[in-house]
Amino acid sequence: MGEIYGVIGNPIGHSMSPAMHNSAFQALKMDGYYQAFHVKEENLGATMEAMKLLQIKGFNVTTPHKVAVMAYLDTIDEVAEKIGAVNTVVHENGKLIGYNTDGYGYIRSLEEEMGITVKGKNVLLIGAGGACRALYYSFLEKGVCQIDIANRTLSKAREIVGKESRSSVYQIDAISDFCMYDIIINTTIVGMYPHIDNTPISISRVKEGAIVSDIIYNPLKTRFLKEAETVGARIHNGLGMFVYQGALAFEKWTGIFPPVEVMKKIVTDKLGE
Ligand code: ATR
Repeated sequence: MGEIYGVIGNPIGHSMSPAMHNSAFQALKMDGYYQAFHVKEENLGATMEAMKLLQIKGFNVTTPHKVAVMAYLDTIDEVAEKIGAVNTVVHENGKLIGYNTDGYGYIRSLEEEMGITVKGKNVLLIGAGGACRALYYSFLEKGVCQIDIANRTLSKAREIVGKESRSSVYQIDAISDFCMYDIIINTTIVGMYPHIDNTPISISRVKEGAIVSDIIYNPLKTRFLKEAETVGARIHNGLGMFVYQGALAFEKWTGIFPPVEVMKKIVTDKLGE
């Protein structure tokens, strides 16, 4: 019998993770199967016991369980602990170990797709929710020079940054000069389908060669990215983040880094449906 993997969430019906991971198992001719599990909030603890009893090898965790699941795990990786959320669980020797691959997945996608390294760069994150936290701590780990946060609610940005000397926080409307940043990233859901005419901030002038990125992948080119393109920025969308967070989870479970192009193709095809 093959190994079973999966994702838990509520709702979970529209998740593209099963198609994406199963395409990787097929491409690698591995005997694995990835299943979506609809888990209600009140059943989270019992589900963790079931995962152990059923010998599920590993699973992803999505909305609304990323924070609550932490209470039921045996060990939590240091970066996931700092982020305060888990998106990947490895089941090893009867123990459940929590990780967060969202931030590293994002960075790996940015580095591979744009041909850069983030070390030493100046970064601006827009927004201060859960996605921002995942990116913020992963960027710090990777040795960026400066990483600032601009958010509508300043206190939320302050809370993430704490006493970090490499970071400043700004009220989103107070930012008018983007020229000191190499990488500017929208981490909010502003501009996501169906609200495609919205944008979190208007990008004016950017530094030559600057990258403007959005964690949204539906649509693939948000209004934020369209505007950035008109001021000469190189643009990067959120499709890679989704694919690479999955690829890094797959690698944690199996020890094999899966074929991201195969995974990206199936997600792109599904987005087109
Ligand atoms: P998640 O955890 O999924 O990232 P979240 O915690 O609700 O979601 O955070 C969403 C982020 O988008 C927040 O930074 C939010 O700003 P506030 O902290 O001021 O609430 C930001 N956001 C949501 N709608 C926005 C809007 N219309 N304009 C600007 N920022 C917005």
